[in-house]
Amino acid sequence: MRRIADVYRQSISDPDSFWGEAAEAVHWYKRWDSVLDSTDKPYYRWFSGAEVNTCYNAIDFHVDNGRGDQPALIYDSPVTNTIKTFTYRELLDRVARFAGVLAQHGVTKGDRVIIYMPMVPQAAVAMLACARLGAIHSVVFGGFAANELAVRIDDSQPKAIVCASCGIEPGRIVEYKPLLDHAIELADHKPSSCIVLQRRQATASMVGGRDFDWKESMDAAIPHDCVPVLATDPLYILYTSGTTGQPKGVVRDNGGHIVALKWSMKNIYNADPGDVYWAASDVGWVVGHSYIVYAPLFSGNTTVLYEGKPVGTPDPGAFWRVISQHNVRVLFTAPTAFRAIKKEDPEGALLDNYDLSGLKALFLAGERTDPDTLRWAQDKLRVPVIDHWWQTETGWSICANCLGIESLPVKVGSPTKPVPGWDLHVLDDESNPVAAGDIGSLVAKLPLPPGTFPTLWNARQRFADTYMSAFDGYYETSDAGYIDDDGYVFVMSRTDDIINVAGHRLSTGAMEEVLASHPDVAECAVTGVADDLKGQLPLGFLVLNAGCDRNPTDLIDEIVKMVRQQIGPVAAFKQALVVDRLPKTRSGKILRGTMQKIADGQEWKMPATIDDPAILDEIGAALATAGYPHAG
Ligand code: COA
Ligand code: AMP
Repeated sequence: MRRIADVYRQSISDPDSFWGEAAEAVHWYKRWDSVLDSTDKPYYRWFSGAEVNTCYNAIDFHVDNGRGDQPALIYDSPVTNTIKTFTYRELLDRVARFAGVLAQHGVTKGDRVIIYMPMVPQAAVAMLACARLGAIHSVVFGGFAANELAVRIDDSQPKAIVCASCGIEPGRIVEYKPLLDHAIELADHKPSSCIVLQRRQATASMVGGRDFDWKESMDAAIPHDCVPVLATDPLYILYTSGTTGQPKGVVRDNGGHIVALKWSMKNIYNADPGDVYWAASDVGWVVGHSYIVYAPLFSGNTTVLYEGKPVGTPDPGAFWRVISQHNVRVLFTAPTAFRAIKKEDPEGALLDNYDLSGLKALFLAGERTDPDTLRWAQDKLRVPVIDHWWQTETGWSICANCLGIESLPVKVGSPTKPVPGWDLHVLDDESNPVAAGDIGSLVAKLPLPPGTFPTLWNARQRFADTYMSAFDGYYETSDAGYIDDDGYVFVMSRTDDIINVAGHRLSTGAMEEVLASHPDVAECAVTGVADDLKGQLPLGFLVLNAGCDRNPTDLIDEIVKMVRQQIGPVAAFKQALVVDRLPKTRSGKILRGTMQKIADGQEWKMPATIDDPAILDEIGAALATAGYPHAG
């Protein structure tokens, strides 16, 4: 039996041979000149000089090696009452044809393509078709508003955009096409073509000469072959929240990404080729990129693409139905999904209706798995429940219990230990290591393993400044936490203004920019407050202009609408309080962290640099009056 400690040690002491060996499982057109290229620190490169194609490794490879008739993707959509299975051969046919469609629209290697689609198989087809051509996709989550889409259009300058006429949220149809049209209007950059999937729930109106129908285009398409690209060429850009309204375009390369993700399927998730693997997330998030689309396909699994929710589609037994119906071996989702199920079916009564004997493990990520959710899931499912920690930037997990190597005992509240490849440390503000059990900044010694982000799109310097400058020679995760005496890692909180709402990462800074743009708002702050279901919810504090006598309820309604229109429903911004003043340090920094602790009823210390301590009492009183149970 392999021991995780030995595998880990080898990955850190000799990354070249560790990842070089893992790379033998990948198909290359040309092998690498060097496994790790450190010539341009901190912009490390993996598999420099090699040529590869991501789509070939995800699909063609399996068709060429006897898996053509195995299901590659199961589309399960309770919101449209559809279940459809695509074998590897069928997926290849669709992807090659859609690559032909894109090529006909002039998309070639290095061009960007934005994909703005709900959880339909065509989203995965579009991603893989881009990869086939060596084009760079950028998937934008459907819950973002036109303005956010416009920012991404301007930053990535796509030649084409692929979208669907609508998404289906419980109780409403979200029409994507008007959002796209509006975004294109707002953006300076204009794509030359849009390919639109018409769904029967809503018909999109088309702009002549620019918009093309998905189905008609596919019927007329000439299949396109895989285009070899450099291992170091970008595969995709995925925008994620930064500390301002300008999102960060996380870049993923081709070669290192295939190597790391393929390695992770067996070693972390213990999924063997042929197993059914289900990541209940969305293609718009990094989990969806890595574990709905790429990793399961690289390793010859069957992936489930689920267009539904954990509850309400139709009931809290939805996940159990999918697991039993498709014989899912490994489920990966966010703790919030389990909290939603537990809330509606606390006893797990609906589990009795399904045979879950095929399920071998549940993996959770997106936020820390709280002890209640962990125990409930362990108790109800009777399989290992593994919390693992990762970020959009890292593309795969930093810490996990690597079930395919050696299953370690689970410690409540910990995502276990650093995964091979991750040289993780806890440092204080002066970059000194802290003692075991002491909280500090969680940082990873460079180089980061393959599959992570080599840079930010259009923002090379921002990459170095944001992530690599605070601790020389280390990647700053912006998470704080500690490592205990046994080497278990505990991720406690963010060190920046990012909050985590239903496993979605949101920037309070971006919300503040919207609040501040309201003509009656003089000053504002947004913090995350604890929520039983979503983990956190944003809460706004508004100081109004002198002389403003608007009814606060009307004004807050307006502001809530503004955030929904400018950032999107996914921001889940629904609550704000009007206050007289905001607590600040003497240098004028708003004490958001202290406000959040007061709202959550956590212990807090009076900041030494506070300008006027009385304001914190006012904030406590306002929260208590507004019904925040812990505040006061
Ligand atoms: N397109 C358009 N709108 C969307 C959307 C999409 N793809 N996804 C979410 N939204 C909307 C929702 O309808 C909701 O709108 P509302 O304010 O009108 O109700 C809003 O964005 C907030 O969405 P969300 O925070 O997801 O809340 P929810 O109440 O719809 O669902 C959960 C809550 C817990 C069921 C859901 O978040 C969930 O399943 N999460 C777990 C899986 C996951 O997504 N993990 C992410 C990373 S692993
Ligand atoms: P995202 O980039 O959207 O994947 O969000 C990444 C952030 O989510 C991390 O920096 C953490 O703050 C948080 N996160 C994700 N997974 C975990 C986890 N297992 N435990 C604690 N925090 C997590």
